[in-house]
Order: sequence, then structure tokens, then C-alpha cells
Amino acid sequence: MTQLTDPIAVFDSGMGGISVLKEMVRLMPKEDFIYYGDSKHAPYGTKTLQEVRELTIEHISDLIKHKHAKAIAVACNTATSAAVRILREMYPDVPLVGVEPAIKPAVMACEDPKVLVMATPMTLHEDKFHHLEELYINQADIYPVPCPGLMEFVEQGILDGEELDSFLKEKIDPYMDKGITGIVLGCTHYPFVRKRIRAIAGPSIEIFDGSLGTARELLRRLTVAGLNREDDHVGQVTFLNSSDDPDKLKLSRYLFSREI
Ligand code: DGL
Repeated sequence: MTQLTDPIAVFDSGMGGISVLKEMVRLMPKEDFIYYGDSKHAPYGTKTLQEVRELTIEHISDLIKHKHAKAIAVACNTATSAAVRILREMYPDVPLVGVEPAIKPAVMACEDPKVLVMATPMTLHEDKFHHLEELYINQADIYPVPCPGLMEFVEQGILDGEELDSFLKEKIDPYMDKGITGIVLGCTHYPFVRKRIRAIAGPSIEIFDGSLGTARELLRRLTVAGLNREDDHVGQVTFLNSSDDPDKLKLSRYLFSREI
């Protein structure tokens, strides 16, 4: 039986979803959160659809059945594309949100939008992204930019430096003559390198991510289900990680404490 005091579980292939968790904690400070990062199996974005689907379903099922999560946030664009539809069918009574590239605000932000969408190869390959792209294709130029290798910098705690900058330049520079107006961070790891993306893209290009929108949607679903806490409790965050490396938990706490 689900209790109001049960935790909300936030899941990602690694530590990227902490960028979403931060917004959730800000918006729902009375809730307890479990953050589960599957760093042992990361990256997801270059795996097969079936592999990501199985890993995501296995971990989310465990969070619901054994950690008694009252709600789930799949804070990973890649896992959302691969498994959210199935998870909703499996657990129709559990409020469950996913993340998707924040193309809408990037398109709505100006009159002649030209938008780069940085994401994992799987996110950009899956139907969910193509449907999203189709919605806005008549209003904007949309350039998908697969970034295999970028999440690994964040997983290793590399948030600046020459190697990261040259990786980002290689991805962004080829589009700089197209009059880009916005960059969508379509992977939850990327907000942790937002400052470097900003430095490389320049101050006139707006950068978007879906964290706040996802946090608001989770709050809305919790409220509809009558599961949001309104007592005096001070929410706690518990970090869990599939990796045996204790540094992953250290880095998780550091990323959580860090201004993005
Ligand atoms: N953080 C993940 C996302 O939002 C994916 C990174 C990966 O595992 O490749 O897509």
C-alpha cells in the first residue's frame, strides 16, 4: 500500500539525472528522494534499444517493489525513449514522468528559431524524438547533434578543461554559420557542462533543458494522485549507484551540491 511518506525515486543511466533531481528538490522540499544511477551500465545512449529497455525496466521495477517508491522520475532522455510507455502500462497506478528534449521552449523563444538538439544517438534515433521534431519542423530549423562520449566526461567528474572544450567545439562549431538561436540539452548529463557549452556557443545563443518542466509535471501528477507531502517534514535525498566504485556516490553528492 503506497504511503504519502514513501520516497520519490529518480532514475538515470548515471549521474546526469541529478540535474533534474535538483529542480525536484527545490520544488518539493518536503519529499524524500532516492536517486538511483546505473553508472555500472552507463552509457545507455550507445546501447541497443532492447538493452536500455531491459535495464530501465529492471531498475524501475526494483525501485517500486523493493524501495517502495510512491512515484518515479525517469531522469534520462535515453531511458525515457526506450521504456516509459511500457513502464506506464506495467505500473498504471504509479505517477511516472520521463524527460524529453525541451524543443518547445527553444522554438517559442524567438521568431526565426534555429535550434541545435544535443543528445545521445539513441534519443535522436527513437520515435519519441521524431514525433517531437515533426511538431515543430514547420516553425523552426532543427539540427540534431548526437554527442556520444559527452556523458562520459560528466561521469568522470570532468566539467571543464581543454579536452572537454575541444569535444564540444567539434560538435558545435560546424553549426555556427547557421545563425543558431538556441541549444537544447537533450541529455540530463549535459547541464553539468552548460557553462562550457555557453562559453563555446557565445552569449547570444539561449540554452534550454527540460529539468524544471519535468519537476513541475511530477508535482502535478503527485497532486492529482493525492500523494504530495504537506507536513513539516524536511526532505532527505539518498543516493544509490549500481557501480562498486565509492567515488560514484561522492561525485553524485558533489554534483548535487554544485550550482549548475
Ligand atoms: N543521461 C542520459 C540522457 O538523458 C543518457 C546518458 C547515457 O547513458 O548515454 O539521455
